[in-house]
Amino acid sequence: QLLSRPKTVFSGKNVLVTAGGTRERIDPVRFITNDSSGKMGYAIAAELVNRGANVTLISAPTRLTVPNGTHLVPVTTTEDLADAVVHHFPKADILVMAAAVADFRPKTSVDQKIKKTADNDEMTLSLVKTTDILKTAASLKQPGQLTVGFAAETQNLITNATKKLTSKQLDLLVANDVSQPGVGFNGDTNQVTILSRDKTPVQTALVSKTAVAATVVDELARLVDTKEG
Ligand code: CTP
Ligand code: CA
Repeated sequence: QLLSRPKTVFSGKNVLVTAGGTRERIDPVRFITNDSSGKMGYAIAAELVNRGANVTLISAPTRLTVPNGTHLVPVTTTEDLADAVVHHFPKADILVMAAAVADFRPKTSVDQKIKKTADNDEMTLSLVKTTDILKTAASLKQPGQLTVGFAAETQNLITNATKKLTSKQLDLLVANDVSQPGVGFNGDTNQVTILSRDKTPVQTALVSKTAVAATVVDELARLVDTKEG
């Protein structure tokens, strides 16, 4: 099957895709996470495999089946994910950060279950900021490497997304307005605006995540083409 695939700009390219929502443990029975299902990242990984890329899928926990042909690197926390990206990025031609990364984690991890106490009706959890993985990747980025980020926004989509494109030194930023029905986390559909540095944004309709993945990968192909002349 590998041999019968038509040659594309991704043939033989090493692509690192991250997906899923990271988990930050509070105690042995509780953790903080987010609504990510991993579907968007898995759809992009599958699309890239179909176009001939060597795909390493760094995945936080999901309920999904790992796409055929990807090399899976399972992770749980944001720091695990950061370590895996730093480890694999030097050999990657492209990094796609579709993972929904926890921005904060509990300051202290406790190894015993936190108990309610009779005298306390409130409790405070101290959180500290996690590593910004795309910013780390930006500092490691070599000429020829492409990085793709995602932005889930609930307001000022284009303004916020443009800031992320610049501050994280991305080549492509896939923005979705998660306040809209059928968009973003968990569902099987999505509607995105794809920002790049050289072109007016590309908007998809509200379509399946598989169809969105194809459009994102088309835009990525355009950039690979441009870069390689
Ligand atoms: N991201 C990352 N490291 C983090 C947080 C996010 O690499 N610690 C990546 C995500 O995988 C995504 C992009 O950065 O590709 C944007 O994530 P988002 O949560 O939208 O942006 P933040 O920079 O975390 O800003 P905020 O959540 O405050 O909007
Ligand atoms: Ca965030």
